[in-house]
Amino acid sequence: MTEIVHTPEALQQTLAGTREDAGLSLVPTMGALHEGHLTLAREARKLGHPVVVSIFVNPLQFAPGEDLEAYPRTLDEDVAKLEAEGVAAVFAPSPETMYPHGPRTTVQPGPLGAVLEGKTRPTHFAGVLTVVAKLFNLTGATDAFFGEKDYQQLALIRQMVEDLHLPVRVHGCPIVRDEDGLALSSRNRYLSAAERTRALAIPRALATGSLEQARALLDDDPSIDIDYLITTAPDLSELPADYSGPARLLVAAKVGNTRLLDNVAIEV
Ligand code: PAF
Repeated sequence: MTEIVHTPEALQQTLAGTREDAGLSLVPTMGALHEGHLTLAREARKLGHPVVVSIFVNPLQFAPGEDLEAYPRTLDEDVAKLEAEGVAAVFAPSPETMYPHGPRTTVQPGPLGAVLEGKTRPTHFAGVLTVVAKLFNLTGATDAFFGEKDYQQLALIRQMVEDLHLPVRVHGCPIVRDEDGLALSSRNRYLSAAERTRALAIPRALATGSLEQARALLDDDPSIDIDYLITTAPDLSELPADYSGPARLLVAAKVGNTRLLDNVAIEV
């Protein structure tokens, strides 16, 4: 039976006694759960610890004018899906209980938070890191699970854990794709049928495994508005000129009004 709790106090009561002896796995989400999130919950369950999934549309990571109000909220459906996955508890707090004093003390991401996504969303990663740090503290999780689709987010969470000596193991899980190749995202529901078909050029471009070929493919469709298409080292640092070895090919592009992210591991 999955417990649903809405306040930090209720969460801590529910989790009392579960942490120190056996470990606890956390899957932070903003809800509108799809197969990608459920895969994270399944991976988390494999460790054999109780699994807590948080569902919180975190206002701090949305800038004015972004889709905070429109972001899908489907708590009842989400809870039903998580019950079927054997999740021990769902933590679904309100913004007021998470930020009773507003955004007062925050975690800043440093230079890695200012590139790629951070260029168009300069306050985004401080919002993400702040809420993730709070969720780590509130749950006392020993293990936390994140998808590789938000690759920069995952890199910054790893960096925060290292820099702040947080006692949490971070598990990055591969992107889950629809049958047609599109990376699953809660924001895919904003795409019209025609936009969704056009969006398939993105995974097709990444599947070439080459920056040049990916650019040529995406440039073919002027309705895909590329924000960045870049090859980096796996830790998101710049590739030296003579580099050969594992790398990451990352893209952010707008299809209609929907901004899509995707990435793949490549060899250069
Ligand atoms: O990836 C997300 O859904 C969010 O950024 C996260 C990690 C749950 C923090 O709000």
